[in-house]
Amino acid sequence: MSSPCLLITRRIFPEVVARLRRHFDVRWHDSDAALSAAELRHQLQGCDAVFVATTERIDASLLQACPQLKAVCSMAVGVNNIDIEACTAHGVMVSNAPDVLTETTADFGFALMMAAARRVPESERFLRAGQWTQWSMDLFAGADIHGRTLGILGMGRIGQAVARRGVHGFGMSLLYHNRSRLAPEQEAALKAQYVSKTELLQRADHVVIVVPYTPQTHHLVGAAELALMKPTATLTNIARGGVVDDAALAKALAEGQIAAAGIDVFEGEPKVHPDLLAAPNAVLTPHIASASLPTRLAMCNLAADNLIAAFSGGQPPTALNP
Ligand code: DGY
Repeated sequence: MSSPCLLITRRIFPEVVARLRRHFDVRWHDSDAALSAAELRHQLQGCDAVFVATTERIDASLLQACPQLKAVCSMAVGVNNIDIEACTAHGVMVSNAPDVLTETTADFGFALMMAAARRVPESERFLRAGQWTQWSMDLFAGADIHGRTLGILGMGRIGQAVARRGVHGFGMSLLYHNRSRLAPEQEAALKAQYVSKTELLQRADHVVIVVPYTPQTHHLVGAAELALMKPTATLTNIARGGVVDDAALAKALAEGQIAAAGIDVFEGEPKVHPDLLAAPNAVLTPHIASASLPTRLAMCNLAADNLIAAFSGGQPPTALNP
């Protein structure tokens, strides 16, 4: 019997491809250049499964054009590029890659927050440009992290991991806002206070966004929300572009409505709003919060686990639909 056909849409670790080749007839788009919608549709013809990352759009029209497709397995945790309802309606299994990236992503969120608060890239640029001529009392003086108030928007696995770092590592007080409250024992362990989004933005010294991107979270933080924040506060986004209104953020940074921002994800990435690029108080990184090598390998292997299970009669470990 011939093996099912699997399309891998981008360059991934060769050892994961080798593993998948033992179970699938693999078509590999071994490139960092994202497939266009038309190329994806073309490459998927006759394929039973697809391995995707964050950029490939899987929607109803694609599913209609690829009736053989049975599984869409993403190596990312965020699945805003996949219409799960449409997949379910077409009998297509969808999986993502949660858990394996939680701690790595939280590490990076914390690093971004600290870099923004303590002005690390800004001061490094100054030094490399040869502008450092003398020690000075308030040279690049920034905000403290320890003992300050951390506000987390989105208290899922990654939000909780950021919270643990802040509370247990840096003695921060914790405010959070989420669709649902944590269990009382989880709140107690983190000494977490559940507040409205408005109160969180008004009181927090450092706000970290870790929500999934959905129609409900589009521009969750825009001009009105930024206006609520303290002028000394920082905003860190490790969720998805589109959760923050980038134009409004650039304006708030330029006008000193907030002190600094750490941003890993952008509306329309890899394009970045020119006013953000021009903001010295924005620390900008190219969607790398989960990018440690062991974690990216684990994410790819988890997508492979799902694919292999789906076609060998097993239970895909992180399926998102029945
Ligand atoms: C995720 O897993 O959703 C990350 O954003 C991918 O880098």
